[in-house]
Amino acid sequence: MIALTINGTEHQLDVEPDTPLLWAIRENAGLTGTKYGCGIAQCGACTVLVDGAAMRSCSVQVGDVAGKQVSTIEGLAIEGKLHKVQQAWVDNDVPQCGYCQSGMIMAVAALLQDKPTPTDADIDEAITNICRCGTFQQVREAIHAAAKA
Ligand code: FES
Ligand code: FES
Repeated sequence: MIALTINGTEHQLDVEPDTPLLWAIRENAGLTGTKYGCGIAQCGACTVLVDGAAMRSCSVQVGDVAGKQVSTIEGLAIEGKLHKVQQAWVDNDVPQCGYCQSGMIMAVAALLQDKPTPTDADIDEAITNICRCGTFQQVREAIHAAAKA
């Protein structure tokens, strides 16, 4: 059993230490907002925060994050109030199919923690998530909107 704190709640998960964090979150903790895309740390669909840093959970072993704070898209809104990144996503009509968007939003939440008013160059460097629907321009506009919120 591995103890994992996800969105402030401790879970006792029956997993091997080398299980990808993504599968522990989805299959064992039952939080399916975090998505599987490539499985090789390339697309960012599986992005979660570990102690506040964006990580691609398909390529993190669950044993390496025991005792750390894991945050997923399900924990971003507080008491029903959307996080400013989520609100900017709604206001700017960012999602199309939506599949990549939870990972995108988590990556942006981490970026704005580090750089509250990122430049386009900061965004290009930090947000390397892939969106097959091509929402990149809306993502950029929503990041700037969230930075002003
Ligand atoms: S599924 Fe993890 S980066 Fe693509
Ligand atoms: S909104 Fe469809 S993959 Fe990004």
